Amino acid sequence: MLKAILSRRDISKSGEYYSYICDLLACGDVRELQNHTHHIGTSRLQHSLNVSYYNFRLCKLLRLDARAAARAGLLHDLFFYDRKTHERIQNRHPAEHAKIALYNASMRFPINEIEGDMILNHMWPMTPHLPRHAETFVITLVDKFCALTELSAYLCRLAGSKMKKSEKAMPLKRFGRKRRKAR
Ligand SMILES: [Fe+2]
Ligand SMILES: [Fe+2]
Repeated sequence: MLKAILSRRDISKSGEYYSYICDLLACGDVRELQNHTHHIGTSRLQHSLNVSYYNFRLCKLLRLDARAAARAGLLHDLFFYDRKTHERIQNRHPAEHAKIALYNASMRFPINEIEGDMILNHMWPMTPHLPRHAETFVITLVDKFCALTELSAYLCRLAGSKMKKSEKAMPLKRFGRKRRKAR
C-alpha cells in the first residue's frame, strides 16, 4: 500500500489525487526510485510521493494548479545517481539534480510550463533563479517540510530500536527497579 508520510490514506484510493499521478507511477523508471535512498532512511520514491501528496493538498487548498502540483511533486527528484559517489556532481548536487530531474521527466512525460518551473526551481533559494509561479513557492516549502519530517521519523525509529535493544539487554535491572518501587 502506498501512502504519504503522516497519512494513513491509501494513495490508490485518493480519487482525484491518484488520477493525476497513476500514469507516472505505472512508469518503471519512476518506480525505480524505490531502489535509491534519499535523505537518510527514506527511498527517493517515498520522498517524491510525500512531496507530491502534500503539494497537491496545499495547492488545492490555495486554489492553485493541484494537478501540476501532484505531477511535479512526483517527478521533482527524478534522478538515478548517488550524490555521495557521483564524482562529477558531488559539490553541485543542489543545483544540478533539479536540472537532471527536469531533463529525465521531460524525456518520459509531457511537462507543462508550471510543472517545469516547479521541478527546476524546487531547491530555491539554494538555486539562483526566482520561481515564476506560485506553485513553485509551494513546492520549495513542501520539499523542505517533507525532508525534515522524514529525517525526524528516521531518528524516532532509530531511538525506538535502541531503547528496545537496551531493554532486552537489561531485563533484570528493570525487574529490580519495579520491585523496589512496590515496597
Ligand atoms: Fe530535490
Ligand atoms: Fe525533494
